[in-house]
Amino acid sequence: MNIQIINGPNLNLLGKRETSIYGSQSFEAFFETLKARFPEHTLHYYQSNVEGEIVNKLHEVGFSFDGIVINAGAYTHTSVAIHDAIGGIKTPVVEVHISNVYAREEFRHKSLITSKCAGMLTGFGMEGYALALNYLIAPK
Ligand code: DQA
Repeated sequence: MNIQIINGPNLNLLGKRETSIYGSQSFEAFFETLKARFPEHTLHYYQSNVEGEIVNKLHEVGFSFDGIVINAGAYTHTSVAIHDAIGGIKTPVVEVHISNVYAREEFRHKSLITSKCAGMLTGFGMEGYALALNYLIAPK
């Protein structure tokens, strides 16, 4: 299957950014281990700090790929545009957060995108991406 992983703003700093919350591994290093764990599937990775670029990527893959895993970062809590983009495409989307957003500031408790996603994983660290992939590749 063709699966797209999309990371939003500041997630390019994983491994350097607030390591007590997000851990010390870069996404690039984690992505190599993820590809090795899912050898039968083609995993694609895209990161952007720009809201419209994330919308463009959702449009680009959202009618042909088999699944999308998105960590929209802070846009999770603010972006009507990403909510609408997920709602407008055909490919199923799973929302992932590395940290447990419900154990953090109240402004992180609201996600504008969950209602358009198949489901949401929060607080499992980087493993959340693997859990999301397992859902997307499972027979339905
Ligand atoms: C995050 C949680 C968001 O609230 C935050 O803005 C992020 C990362 C997470 O993966 O835990 O950038 O999505």
